[in-house]
Amino acid sequence: MITAQREDLLNKLEEKYKTVGQKTDVHLEGLLWSKPMTYWDYVQTDALLNLQVQRTTLPDEMVFIMYHQVNELLFKMILWEMKQLCHSDKPDPTYFAEKLMRISRYFDMLTTSFDIMGDGMSIDQYMKFRNTLTPASGFQSAQYRLIEFSSTDLINLIDNRFRTSIDRDTSFTHAFEHLYWQAAGKNHATGEKSFLLLEFEKKYKAEFLRHMEEYNSINVWQKFKSLPEEGQKDPELIRTMRHFDHTVNITWVMGHLNAARKYIGDGDATGGSDWKKYMHPKYQRRIFFPELWSHEELEHWGEEL
Ligand code: HEM
Repeated sequence: MITAQREDLLNKLEEKYKTVGQKTDVHLEGLLWSKPMTYWDYVQTDALLNLQVQRTTLPDEMVFIMYHQVNELLFKMILWEMKQLCHSDKPDPTYFAEKLMRISRYFDMLTTSFDIMGDGMSIDQYMKFRNTLTPASGFQSAQYRLIEFSSTDLINLIDNRFRTSIDRDTSFTHAFEHLYWQAAGKNHATGEKSFLLLEFEKKYKAEFLRHMEEYNSINVWQKFKSLPEEGQKDPELIRTMRHFDHTVNITWVMGHLNAARKYIGDGDATGGSDWKKYMHPKYQRRIFFPELWSHEELEHWGEEL
């Protein structure tokens, strides 16, 4: 029997397939043969759980690989929310706050779970398996960079030493050469780029330039500035913005630096940067939303730790 509800569904399906020149009956018959859904097919567990491939026989290498993969998945979740927020035309304050909270929660997870790296591997094993991954480094995480480009105006990602010579009219390629993280991959005296940086740019530079341009006027800060005045003054929203900035640019950075101190000690990084200096937030001075911090807070950025 065709109930009213079923008739309504059939009409809607007919409409849907008509617009793409398809026959509804063929698709309905296809349903007869389609496989029932299972958890493992839906979540793609077989594919996912086959991506953990060690290069050594040391068991703690598995912790290192998997935790990086967990990070990349969370980076993807963050970028997913950022894309929606930044591409929404005139977001209202409630929607803005909701998206920002999601993004913040994901980064909180990355920060509060960093002990999995910091305390979760034997130093002895780390010192052995790291030799097999040289010269790779988390520095080459493209999603991490995309999160930064999506969060703030480009000027806030420019190396502190060059900020006065760069403004909104500077070309993206010129700005790219002066991003703060270029310092980790360049010889300080000669300006020559390291293999780590050259490989990274070979793979991602074009995508980065595209993303920089796309988010130039729609990054999270720009979206915040497009909110109605009372939205921009909402203390709760400001608190969330500051929390996100602090979590990404101080708390996570310090968790990461402390892990590096523990495992590498006085040694060289796999990526070859002058890491002890480069990685500290008080030197990097990476701040997504400087206008939301007081003069004093800016002055002492990252010094509390
Ligand atoms: C024991 C664990 C870790 C150590 C010892 C470590 C060490 C380092 C070092 C020394 C650098 C500086 C670049 C270089 O010369 O290699 C770096 C950069 C980086 N690492 Fe890690 N790392 C660890 C875990 C992680 C994890 C779990 C992630 C998550 C994806 C990650 C992401 C990054 C990122 C994004 C950078 C670039 C940061 C920036 O430019 O400020 N690292 N890491």
